[in-house]
Amino acid sequence: MNPAPFLDIRKASKDFGAGPVLDGVDLAVARGEFISLLGPSGCGKTTLLRIIAGLAAADGGSVTLDGQDISRLPPHRRDVGVVFQNYALFPHLTVAENIAFGLRAKGAPAAEITATVERFLTLIHMAAFADRSVRALSGGQQQRVAVARALATKPKLLLLDEPFSALDRKLRETMQIDLRRLLRELGTTAIFVTHDQDEALIMSDRIAVMNRGRIEQLDTPEAIYARPATPFALEFVGLSTRIAGTVTAYDPAGLVTVETSLGSLRSRGRFEVGSPVLLGVRPERIAFGAAGGENVVAPVLSDIVFQGARIQAHFASPDQRPVMIETSGALPAGLTAGSPVTISFAVEDTIAYPLAAA
Ligand SMILES: Nc1ncnc2c1ncn2[C@@H]1O[C@H](COP(=O)(O)OP(=O)(O)OP(=O)(O)O)[C@@H](O)[C@H]1O
Ligand SMILES: [Mg+2]
Repeated sequence: MNPAPFLDIRKASKDFGAGPVLDGVDLAVARGEFISLLGPSGCGKTTLLRIIAGLAAADGGSVTLDGQDISRLPPHRRDVGVVFQNYALFPHLTVAENIAFGLRAKGAPAAEITATVERFLTLIHMAAFADRSVRALSGGQQQRVAVARALATKPKLLLLDEPFSALDRKLRETMQIDLRRLLRELGTTAIFVTHDQDEALIMSDRIAVMNRGRIEQLDTPEAIYARPATPFALEFVGLSTRIAGTVTAYDPAGLVTVETSLGSLRSRGRFEVGSPVLLGVRPERIAFGAAGGENVVAPVLSDIVFQGARIQAHFASPDQRPVMIETSGALPAGLTAGSPVTISFAVEDTIAYPLAAA
Protein backbone atom coordinates (compact mmCIF):
# COMPACT_ATOMS: atom_id res chain seq x y z
CA MET A 1 0.00 0.00 0.00
CA ASN A 2 1.27 3.44 -0.89
CA PRO A 3 1.64 5.80 2.05
CA ALA A 4 -0.61 8.85 1.89
CA PRO A 5 1.21 11.75 0.21
CA PHE A 6 2.85 14.26 2.56
CA LEU A 7 1.34 17.13 0.62
CA ASP A 8 -1.91 16.40 -1.16
CA ILE A 9 -3.51 19.08 -3.30
CA ARG A 10 -6.90 18.12 -4.71
CA LYS A 11 -8.81 19.97 -7.39
CA ALA A 12 -7.33 23.38 -6.60
CA SER A 13 -9.14 25.97 -8.67
CA LYS A 14 -8.93 29.72 -9.01
CA ASP A 15 -10.53 32.24 -11.30
CA PHE A 16 -9.85 35.96 -10.91
CA GLY A 17 -12.73 36.75 -13.24
CA ALA A 18 -11.09 36.32 -16.64
CA GLY A 19 -11.27 32.54 -16.89
CA PRO A 20 -9.68 29.76 -14.84
CA VAL A 21 -6.12 30.45 -13.68
CA LEU A 22 -6.02 27.08 -11.91
CA ASP A 23 -8.25 24.50 -13.47
CA GLY A 24 -8.66 21.80 -10.83
CA VAL A 25 -5.00 21.03 -10.08
CA ASP A 26 -4.14 17.76 -8.33
CA LEU A 27 -0.63 17.38 -6.93
CA ALA A 28 0.63 14.73 -4.52
CA VAL A 29 4.12 15.15 -3.05
CA ALA A 30 6.04 12.65 -0.94
CA ARG A 31 7.85 13.60 2.26
CA GLY A 32 11.31 14.95 1.48
CA GLU A 33 10.61 15.33 -2.22
CA PHE A 34 11.79 18.28 -4.30
CA ILE A 35 9.17 19.20 -6.89
CA SER A 36 9.56 21.91 -9.51
CA LEU A 37 6.59 23.68 -11.03
CA LEU A 38 7.74 24.47 -14.53
CA GLY A 39 5.69 26.45 -16.97
CA PRO A 40 5.43 29.65 -18.99
CA SER A 41 4.59 33.05 -17.59
CA GLY A 42 0.97 33.29 -16.50
CA CYS A 43 0.30 29.54 -16.30
CA GLY A 44 -0.60 29.76 -12.61
CA LYS A 45 2.59 28.76 -10.78
CA THR A 46 2.65 31.61 -8.28
CA THR A 47 -1.10 31.34 -7.76
CA LEU A 48 -0.74 27.67 -6.83
CA LEU A 49 2.08 28.47 -4.37
CA ARG A 50 0.06 31.27 -2.80
CA ILE A 51 -2.88 28.92 -2.30
CA ILE A 52 -0.62 26.32 -0.63
CA ALA A 53 0.87 29.01 1.62
CA GLY A 54 -2.54 30.45 2.47
CA LEU A 55 -1.70 33.81 0.88
CA ALA A 56 -4.56 33.45 -1.59
CA ALA A 57 -7.90 31.72 -1.20
CA ALA A 58 -8.75 28.99 -3.70
CA ASP A 59 -12.24 28.95 -5.20
CA GLY A 60 -12.35 25.22 -4.64
CA GLY A 61 -10.28 22.20 -3.72
CA SER A 62 -8.26 21.22 -0.67
CA VAL A 63 -4.67 21.24 0.60
CA THR A 64 -3.63 18.53 3.04
CA LEU A 65 -0.18 18.64 4.66
CA ASP A 66 1.12 15.79 6.80
CA GLY A 67 -2.38 14.44 7.31
CA GLN A 68 -3.95 17.76 8.24
CA ASP A 69 -6.36 19.70 6.02
CA ILE A 70 -4.78 23.16 6.07
CA SER A 71 -7.09 24.70 3.46
CA ARG A 72 -8.71 27.07 5.93
CA LEU A 73 -5.76 27.83 8.19
CA PRO A 74 -4.15 31.28 8.14
CA PRO A 75 -0.61 31.35 6.65
CA HIS A 76 1.23 31.48 9.98
CA ARG A 77 -0.47 28.32 11.20
CA ARG A 78 0.31 26.18 8.14
CA ASP A 79 3.93 25.35 8.95
CA VAL A 80 4.93 26.38 5.44
CA GLY A 81 8.02 28.49 4.72
CA VAL A 82 8.11 30.75 1.69
CA VAL A 83 10.99 32.29 -0.25
CA PHE A 84 10.05 34.85 -2.87
CA GLN A 85 11.94 36.06 -5.88
CA ASN A 86 12.75 39.42 -4.31
CA TYR A 87 14.09 37.99 -1.01
CA ALA A 88 11.90 40.30 1.11
CA LEU A 89 14.37 40.38 3.99
CA PHE A 90 13.82 42.79 6.87
CA PRO A 91 16.15 45.62 5.81
CA HIS A 92 16.67 47.11 9.27
CA LEU A 93 17.83 43.80 10.74
CA THR A 94 21.18 42.01 10.57
CA VAL A 95 21.74 38.66 8.89
CA ALA A 96 21.50 36.80 12.23
CA GLU A 97 18.38 38.74 13.26
CA ASN A 98 16.69 37.93 9.96
CA ILE A 99 17.37 34.22 10.42
CA ALA A 100 16.19 34.38 14.06
CA PHE A 101 13.00 36.26 13.20
CA GLY A 102 10.60 33.35 12.82
CA LEU A 103 11.83 31.56 15.93
CA ARG A 104 11.55 34.77 18.00
CA ALA A 105 8.00 35.28 16.74
CA LYS A 106 7.19 31.75 17.86
CA GLY A 107 8.66 32.47 21.30
CA ALA A 108 11.45 29.89 21.04
CA PRO A 109 13.94 29.81 23.96
CA ALA A 110 17.01 32.04 23.52
CA ALA A 111 19.44 29.11 23.58
CA GLU A 112 17.56 27.37 20.79
CA ILE A 113 17.51 30.53 18.72
CA THR A 114 21.26 31.06 19.10
CA ALA A 115 22.02 27.44 18.20
CA THR A 116 19.72 27.45 15.17
CA VAL A 117 21.06 30.75 13.85
CA GLU A 118 24.63 29.48 14.18
CA ARG A 119 23.77 26.25 12.42
CA PHE A 120 22.12 28.02 9.50
CA LEU A 121 24.87 30.61 9.20
CA THR A 122 27.27 27.70 8.75
CA LEU A 123 24.97 25.84 6.36
CA ILE A 124 24.73 28.86 4.07
CA HIS A 125 28.45 29.70 4.44
CA MET A 126 27.77 33.07 5.99
CA ALA A 127 29.07 32.70 9.55
CA ALA A 128 31.33 35.72 9.02
CA PHE A 129 28.33 37.89 8.08
CA ALA A 130 26.15 37.34 11.18
CA ASP A 131 26.17 40.96 12.33
CA ARG A 132 26.13 42.60 8.96
CA SER A 133 23.08 44.54 7.82
CA VAL A 134 21.29 42.68 5.04
CA ARG A 135 21.39 45.92 3.07
CA ALA A 136 25.14 45.41 2.73
CA LEU A 137 24.87 42.01 1.04
CA SER A 138 25.06 40.92 -2.58
CA GLY A 139 21.97 39.47 -4.27
CA GLY A 140 23.24 35.92 -3.86
CA GLN A 141 24.02 36.46 -0.18
CA GLN A 142 20.58 37.96 0.42
CA GLN A 143 19.00 35.00 -1.28
CA ARG A 144 20.88 32.58 0.98
CA VAL A 145 19.72 34.50 4.04
CA ALA A 146 16.13 34.36 2.75
CA VAL A 147 16.38 30.57 2.42
CA ALA A 148 17.91 30.25 5.91
CA ARG A 149 15.25 32.50 7.39
CA ALA A 150 12.48 30.38 5.84
CA LEU A 151 14.08 27.11 7.01
CA ALA A 152 15.03 28.18 10.55
CA THR A 153 11.55 27.49 11.92
CA LYS A 154 11.75 23.96 10.45
CA PRO A 155 8.66 24.26 8.28
CA LYS A 156 7.09 21.04 7.03
CA LEU A 157 7.12 22.44 3.55
CA LEU A 158 9.27 25.05 1.83
CA LEU A 159 7.88 26.97 -1.13
CA LEU A 160 10.29 28.86 -3.37
CA ASP A 161 9.04 31.20 -6.08
CA GLU A 162 11.79 31.76 -8.65
CA PRO A 163 14.34 32.45 -5.91
CA PHE A 164 17.30 32.58 -8.28
CA SER A 165 15.88 34.51 -11.20
CA ALA A 166 17.64 37.77 -10.29
CA LEU A 167 21.07 36.13 -10.04
CA ASP A 168 23.63 35.82 -12.77
CA ARG A 169 24.06 32.43 -14.36
CA LYS A 170 27.22 31.29 -12.55
CA LEU A 171 25.87 32.21 -9.14
CA ARG A 172 22.52 30.64 -9.97
CA GLU A 173 24.20 27.33 -10.74
CA THR A 174 26.10 27.37 -7.44
CA MET A 175 22.90 28.22 -5.56
CA GLN A 176 20.99 25.41 -7.23
CA ILE A 177 23.50 22.85 -6.03
CA ASP A 178 23.82 24.40 -2.56
CA LEU A 179 20.06 24.58 -2.01
CA ARG A 180 19.57 21.01 -3.14
CA ARG A 181 22.27 19.81 -0.73
CA LEU A 182 20.88 21.87 2.14
CA LEU A 183 17.33 20.56 1.67
CA ARG A 184 18.56 16.96 1.47
CA GLU A 185 20.53 17.45 4.67
CA LEU A 186 17.44 18.79 6.42
CA GLY A 187 15.03 16.36 4.74
CA THR A 188 12.78 19.29 3.83
CA THR A 189 9.94 18.82 1.33
CA ALA A 190 10.01 21.63 -1.20
CA ILE A 191 8.09 23.05 -4.13
CA PHE A 192 10.17 25.23 -6.37
CA VAL A 193 8.71 27.47 -9.03
CA THR A 194 10.74 28.21 -12.10
CA HIS A 195 10.27 28.89 -15.77
CA ASP A 196 13.85 27.84 -16.42
CA GLN A 197 13.76 24.26 -17.69
CA ASP A 198 17.46 23.64 -17.04
CA GLU A 199 17.01 24.65 -13.43
CA ALA A 200 14.05 22.26 -13.11
CA LEU A 201 15.91 19.39 -14.77
CA ILE A 202 18.99 19.86 -12.57
CA MET A 203 17.23 20.23 -9.24
CA SER A 204 14.07 18.19 -9.15
CA ASP A 205 13.07 14.74 -7.97
CA ARG A 206 10.00 15.31 -10.09
CA ILE A 207 8.84 18.12 -12.35
CA ALA A 208 5.25 19.27 -12.76
CA VAL A 209 4.95 20.75 -16.24
CA MET A 210 2.20 23.38 -16.03
CA ASN A 211 0.28 24.94 -18.88
CA ARG A 212 -2.80 27.17 -18.68
CA GLY A 213 -3.72 26.30 -15.13
CA ARG A 214 -3.20 22.57 -15.45
CA ILE A 215 -0.40 20.13 -14.74
CA GLU A 216 0.19 18.37 -18.06
CA GLN A 217 2.81 15.95 -16.77
CA LEU A 218 4.27 15.10 -13.36
CA ASP A 219 7.30 12.90 -13.63
CA THR A 220 11.03 12.53 -13.09
CA PRO A 221 13.27 14.83 -15.16
CA GLU A 222 14.53 11.80 -17.09
CA ALA A 223 11.03 10.60 -17.94
CA ILE A 224 9.81 14.04 -18.94
CA TYR A 225 12.81 14.49 -21.20
CA ALA A 226 12.65 11.04 -22.77
CA ARG A 227 8.85 10.65 -22.96
CA PRO A 228 7.08 14.01 -22.86
CA ALA A 229 3.39 13.25 -22.39
CA THR A 230 2.05 16.12 -24.47
CA PRO A 231 3.26 18.31 -27.34
CA PHE A 232 3.47 21.15 -24.85
CA ALA A 233 5.79 19.18 -22.54
CA LEU A 234 7.90 18.21 -25.56
CA GLU A 235 8.15 21.80 -26.68
CA PHE A 236 8.66 23.38 -23.29
CA VAL A 237 11.26 21.02 -21.81
CA GLY A 238 14.42 20.65 -23.83
CA LEU A 239 14.93 21.10 -27.55
CA SER A 240 13.19 18.99 -30.12
CA THR A 241 12.80 18.43 -33.81
CA ARG A 242 9.09 18.52 -34.61
CA ILE A 243 7.55 17.41 -37.86
CA ALA A 244 3.83 17.36 -38.62
CA GLY A 245 2.23 14.78 -40.88
CA THR A 246 -0.67 12.43 -41.54
CA VAL A 247 -0.86 8.77 -40.59
CA THR A 248 -0.91 6.61 -43.73
CA ALA A 249 -0.53 3.17 -42.20
CA TYR A 250 -1.19 1.65 -38.84
CA ASP A 251 0.24 -1.58 -37.58
CA PRO A 252 -1.55 -3.14 -34.60
CA ALA A 253 1.84 -3.88 -33.00
CA GLY A 254 1.91 -0.15 -32.28
CA LEU A 255 3.80 1.41 -35.15
CA VAL A 256 2.51 4.11 -37.45
CA THR A 257 3.77 5.37 -40.78
CA VAL A 258 3.44 9.12 -41.16
CA GLU A 259 3.64 11.05 -44.40
CA THR A 260 5.41 14.37 -43.76
CA SER A 261 6.79 17.17 -45.90
CA LEU A 262 10.24 15.61 -45.42
CA GLY A 263 9.11 12.15 -46.45
CA SER A 264 7.66 9.06 -44.88
CA LEU A 265 8.59 8.44 -41.23
CA ARG A 266 7.75 5.76 -38.71
CA SER A 267 7.01 6.08 -35.04
CA ARG A 268 5.54 4.21 -32.15
CA GLY A 269 1.95 5.16 -31.59
CA ARG A 270 -1.66 4.11 -32.06
CA PHE A 271 -3.56 6.31 -34.47
CA GLU A 272 -6.12 5.72 -37.14
CA VAL A 273 -5.13 6.16 -40.76
CA GLY A 274 -5.77 9.77 -41.73
CA SER A 275 -5.04 11.22 -38.26
CA PRO A 276 -2.95 14.39 -38.20
CA VAL A 277 0.03 13.85 -35.87
CA LEU A 278 3.09 15.67 -34.63
CA LEU A 279 6.35 13.71 -34.53
CA GLY A 280 8.98 14.73 -31.98
CA VAL A 281 12.65 13.70 -31.71
CA ARG A 282 15.32 15.00 -29.35
CA PRO A 283 18.02 16.67 -31.46
CA GLU A 284 20.88 14.68 -29.93
CA ARG A 285 19.15 11.45 -31.01
CA ILE A 286 19.51 12.45 -34.66
CA ALA A 287 22.67 11.57 -36.57
CA PHE A 288 24.27 12.93 -39.70
CA GLY A 289 24.20 10.34 -42.48
CA ALA A 290 21.86 7.40 -42.88
CA ALA A 291 23.15 5.14 -40.10
CA GLY A 292 21.19 6.72 -37.22
CA GLY A 293 18.04 4.66 -37.69
CA GLU A 294 15.20 3.75 -39.96
CA ASN A 295 13.89 7.31 -40.35
CA VAL A 296 16.07 8.97 -42.98
CA VAL A 297 15.39 12.45 -44.38
CA ALA A 298 17.37 15.11 -46.21
CA PRO A 299 16.26 18.59 -45.16
CA VAL A 300 18.04 21.73 -46.34
CA LEU A 301 20.66 23.03 -43.92
CA SER A 302 19.96 26.60 -42.88
CA ASP A 303 22.34 27.40 -40.06
CA ILE A 304 25.10 26.08 -37.79
CA VAL A 305 25.07 27.37 -34.20
CA PHE A 306 28.16 26.94 -32.05
CA GLN A 307 27.32 26.52 -28.36
CA GLY A 308 30.63 25.65 -26.73
CA ALA A 309 30.49 21.96 -25.85
CA ARG A 310 27.72 21.37 -28.38
CA ILE A 311 26.96 22.37 -31.92
CA GLN A 312 23.47 22.64 -33.41
CA ALA A 313 22.59 22.30 -37.06
CA HIS A 314 19.27 23.88 -38.01
CA PHE A 315 17.33 22.89 -41.09
CA ALA A 316 14.69 24.56 -43.17
CA SER A 317 11.25 23.44 -42.12
CA PRO A 318 8.20 23.88 -44.32
CA ASP A 319 5.84 24.44 -41.39
CA GLN A 320 8.02 26.69 -39.17
CA ARG A 321 8.56 23.92 -36.62
CA PRO A 322 12.19 23.36 -35.64
CA VAL A 323 14.21 20.67 -37.37
CA MET A 324 17.62 20.42 -35.77
CA ILE A 325 20.47 18.18 -34.74
CA GLU A 326 22.58 18.74 -31.67
CA THR A 327 25.95 17.06 -31.46
CA SER A 328 28.88 17.14 -29.07
CA GLY A 329 31.09 15.59 -31.73
CA ALA A 330 32.56 17.07 -34.88
CA LEU A 331 30.37 18.10 -37.80
CA PRO A 332 30.77 16.17 -41.03
CA ALA A 333 33.00 17.90 -43.56
CA GLY A 334 31.54 19.90 -46.43
CA LEU A 335 28.25 21.04 -44.88
CA THR A 336 26.89 23.99 -46.83
CA ALA A 337 23.94 26.11 -45.87
CA GLY A 338 21.30 25.92 -48.57
CA SER A 339 22.04 22.31 -49.49
CA PRO A 340 20.20 19.17 -48.37
CA VAL A 341 21.92 17.01 -45.76
CA THR A 342 21.02 13.41 -45.03
CA ILE A 343 20.14 12.82 -41.38
CA SER A 344 18.56 9.88 -39.60
CA PHE A 345 17.01 8.72 -36.34
CA ALA A 346 15.53 5.61 -34.80
CA VAL A 347 11.84 4.75 -34.72
CA GLU A 348 12.11 4.23 -30.93
CA ASP A 349 13.31 7.81 -30.52
CA THR A 350 10.37 9.20 -32.48
CA ILE A 351 7.28 10.11 -30.47
CA ALA A 352 3.90 10.76 -32.06
CA TYR A 353 1.24 13.08 -30.64
CA PRO A 354 -2.25 13.77 -31.84
CA LEU A 355 -2.44 17.10 -33.62
CA ALA A 356 -5.59 19.15 -33.90
CA ALA A 357 -6.62 19.20 -37.56
CA ALA A 358 -5.60 22.48 -39.18
N1 LIG B 1 -4.53 39.06 -7.91
C1 LIG B 1 -4.80 38.81 -9.18
N2 LIG B 1 -5.88 39.37 -9.80
C2 LIG B 1 -6.18 39.10 -11.08
N3 LIG B 1 -5.48 38.27 -11.85
C3 LIG B 1 -4.42 37.66 -11.31
C4 LIG B 1 -4.02 37.89 -9.95
N4 LIG B 1 -2.91 37.15 -9.70
C5 LIG B 1 -2.65 36.48 -10.85
N5 LIG B 1 -3.52 36.79 -11.82
C6 LIG B 1 -3.56 36.24 -13.18
O1 LIG B 1 -3.50 34.83 -13.10
C7 LIG B 1 -2.67 34.28 -14.09
C8 LIG B 1 -1.59 33.43 -13.45
O2 LIG B 1 -0.74 34.26 -12.69
P1 LIG B 1 0.49 33.65 -11.87
O3 LIG B 1 1.12 34.78 -11.13
O4 LIG B 1 0.05 32.49 -11.07
O5 LIG B 1 1.41 33.16 -13.07
P2 LIG B 1 2.88 32.54 -13.03
O6 LIG B 1 2.78 31.18 -13.64
O7 LIG B 1 3.46 32.63 -11.68
O8 LIG B 1 3.65 33.49 -14.06
P3 LIG B 1 5.15 34.12 -13.98
O9 LIG B 1 6.06 33.06 -14.52
O10 LIG B 1 5.04 35.29 -14.92
O11 LIG B 1 5.44 34.51 -12.58
C9 LIG B 1 -2.13 35.46 -14.88
O12 LIG B 1 -2.90 35.60 -16.05
C10 LIG B 1 -2.34 36.64 -13.96
O13 LIG B 1 -2.53 37.81 -14.69
MG1 LIG C 1 5.01 33.75 -10.85
